[in-house]
Amino acid sequence: MEQKNLDQIIRETVARYMNRSLIVAGNWKMNMTVREGMEFLEKLGPVDGKVMIFPPYTTLAVLAGEFRKRGIIYGPQNFHYKESGAYTGEISLPMIKELGCDCLLVGHSERRSYYNETDEEIQKKIQAALKEGFSVMLCIGENLEERKSGQWKNVLRKQLEKDLEGLSTDRIPYIQIAYEPIWAIGTGVSASTEEIIETHRYLKAVLSELTGSDIPLLYGGSVNEKNAADIGSCPGVDGFLIGGASLKPEKFRKIIEVSKRE
Ligand code: 13P
Repeated sequence: MEQKNLDQIIRETVARYMNRSLIVAGNWKMNMTVREGMEFLEKLGPVDGKVMIFPPYTTLAVLAGEFRKRGIIYGPQNFHYKESGAYTGEISLPMIKELGCDCLLVGHSERRSYYNETDEEIQKKIQAALKEGFSVMLCIGENLEERKSGQWKNVLRKQLEKDLEGLSTDRIPYIQIAYEPIWAIGTGVSASTEEIIETHRYLKAVLSELTGSDIPLLYGGSVNEKNAADIGSCPGVDGFLIGGASLKPEKFRKIIEVSKRE
């Protein structure tokens, strides 16, 4: 890690996040046709605060202008680190740049487990995206066995160390982390506030050790309109990454409302 300008970056990062509203990010996964996405935005109405949506590629491409018009930050759920070439079925960073995306999701546990995405590939993706001027939201998380056996700290630290390897100081403000315990994703039961507080405290310490900075740290895993206020008030939680509840405009709106701070 370069030390150059570190003080300045820390000051900027602190200033950027003082009194900040929580970040509310929706991962639409393989849901939402273009038509459904448009209906969602119409029902959602105007938003303020830092709201992000990660739609599937087709909806992303067609509705990019609609997201932009509404001040919603948008980006893909996955991408390839190579610029172009014979990689059937893949999408490159220049293609994503053309759509005016700002933040890219990377390393989601569903990509790690269903598509065998490795930390080495995730590290390459992060480096490529940062080089192109994007910001990234890196997802990390442990499975139930790792939680129960007490291995979760090691697992999470290793993910961060490997995925963020080679991160240069000037790119630190472009990184956000989503902690998503795999056992809480899509189950309807989030981690408890005690677990979230303990884990976020640990992750903030690891991130500070690795980057010298207070990196925004979101929680994901069965966040909904009922538990968002409690989870959002846990120290160390800077926002949410939401799956199921981000598909329902009325639920997503409620989460945005409880995330406002000023
Ligand atoms: P759920 O909110 O449906 O549990 O999904 C969380 C998630 O995986 C977001 O990336």
